[in-house]
Amino acid sequence: METDYQSKISKVVNEIKPSAIRRFFDLANELKGEVISLSIGEPDFVTPWNIREAGIFSLEDGYTHYSPNQGYIEVRKAISEYLERRFDLKYDPKGQILVTVGGSEALDLIARALIDPGDEVIILEPCFVAYRATVTLAHGVPVVIETKEKDNYKLMPEDLEAAITDKTKYLILGYPGNPTGATMSYDDLCKIRDVLMRHPNVFVVSDELYSELNYTGSRPVSIANFPELYDRTIVVNGFSKSFAMTGWRIGYMAGPAPLVAAMNKVHQYCIMCSPSTAQYAVIEACRNGDKEVEEMRAEYNRRRRVIINGLKNAGLTCFEPTGAFYAFPSIEGLGLTSEQFCEKFLMEKKVAIVPGNAFGACGEGHVRISYAASLENIQEAMIRLKDFVEELKDGSTK
Ligand SMILES: Cc1ncc(COP(=O)(O)O)c(C=O)c1O
Repeated sequence: METDYQSKISKVVNEIKPSAIRRFFDLANELKGEVISLSIGEPDFVTPWNIREAGIFSLEDGYTHYSPNQGYIEVRKAISEYLERRFDLKYDPKGQILVTVGGSEALDLIARALIDPGDEVIILEPCFVAYRATVTLAHGVPVVIETKEKDNYKLMPEDLEAAITDKTKYLILGYPGNPTGATMSYDDLCKIRDVLMRHPNVFVVSDELYSELNYTGSRPVSIANFPELYDRTIVVNGFSKSFAMTGWRIGYMAGPAPLVAAMNKVHQYCIMCSPSTAQYAVIEACRNGDKEVEEMRAEYNRRRRVIINGLKNAGLTCFEPTGAFYAFPSIEGLGLTSEQFCEKFLMEKKVAIVPGNAFGACGEGHVRISYAASLENIQEAMIRLKDFVEELKDGSTK
C-alpha cells in the first residue's frame, strides 16, 4: 500500500501555496543563459569588499563558534549605533535588539511569539509573500487591507480603522514596499498614528528592510520615531537589501525588551544563533558601509528612472515607485491575466518578471519588475517589453 504523505502534513502547511516568485525564478533558470531575470528581489551587486573582508578576517582568526543566542553584543551595539545614526531610533543593545537569520526569521519569530490561535494580524496587500504565511503558520488570521494604486499604495487611515477589531494583535507595515516600491511620508504616518492612538492594544511590526533604499529625497521615517508608538512597535530590518548581503542571512528586530526576550526564547530553541561569520561582517557594514550604500542607492535610482521611462514607452501605466527596487506596472486591458502575461513574456521574449497576484489577490492586473539588475539588462528588457505589448495590442503574438 502506498503511503499517503499528504495526510501526514499538517493542515496549515497543506493550505499554504508555494511562492509564485520562486516558480518564475526557477522557470527562468531552466531556460538558462538567454533569459534576462528581473524576477527576484535580490541586489545584483556583490557585498562591498570591506564587509566581505571582515567576514574573512573572522574566519582567519578562528571565530567559528556559536554566538550568544541574541547575537554578539558587539553586533548589537553596532546595530544600535547604526539605527540611531541613520534613523534616529534608540535601542538598548542589551535587551532590545535580537540578531536573526534575515528579516525573514524576525517576521516568523514575531508571529510565533505573539499570536494565539485566532488572533488577527492586519497585512497590507499587495505585500511581501511571507507576511500572510508567517501569520497563518502561527495559527493567526491574516486580515487583508487592499492598498490601491490611486492612493500610491499607502495605508489609508480609514481602511485601518475599519480593519481593527478586538482580536487585532498587530499590524504589519512594510514601507518602502515590496512589490510596489511605495513609501509613507511623515505626514502619512501621522494619520496612521492617530488611528493607532485610539486602539492601544494594537501593536505595529514595521518591516524596514528597504529603509536605505528611499528616493524621495527626504530622510526616511519609521513609525517607531513617534514617541507615542515607540513602545508598541517592533522594527524589523536587515542587511540583505541595503548592503547587498542576501546570502549572509543577517537581519534583526528592535523593540520592547519583554517582547524581544519572548522572541529570543523561540529563536534559542529553533535556530540557536545567526551565522557567526556573517555577524562579524555586519559590524563592518554598520560602521563603515555608508559610502557603498550611498553608491548603490544612486545606481538603483538611475535604474528606477530608466525603468519608469521604459514602461511609459512600452505604453504601460505605472505608479512611480519611491523606494525599494521594484516597479509594479498595470497590464490591464491587454487581455491576459498577470500569470499569462508573465509566462508569455518569458517564453516569447525571454524576460522573467513576477505576476502581481503572487503578492495577494489584489495584485492581479499588475506585474512586478525588479530593477536590481544591470542597466544594460534593464534597457534590453524594456525594448523587449515594448515589442511584446505592441504585439499584444495588435494581436500578433504567437
Ligand atoms: C519586504 C521584505 N521584508 C523582508 C524580507 C526578508 O529579507 P531577508 O530575510 O533576506 O532579510 C524581504 C525579502 O525579499 C522583503 O522583501
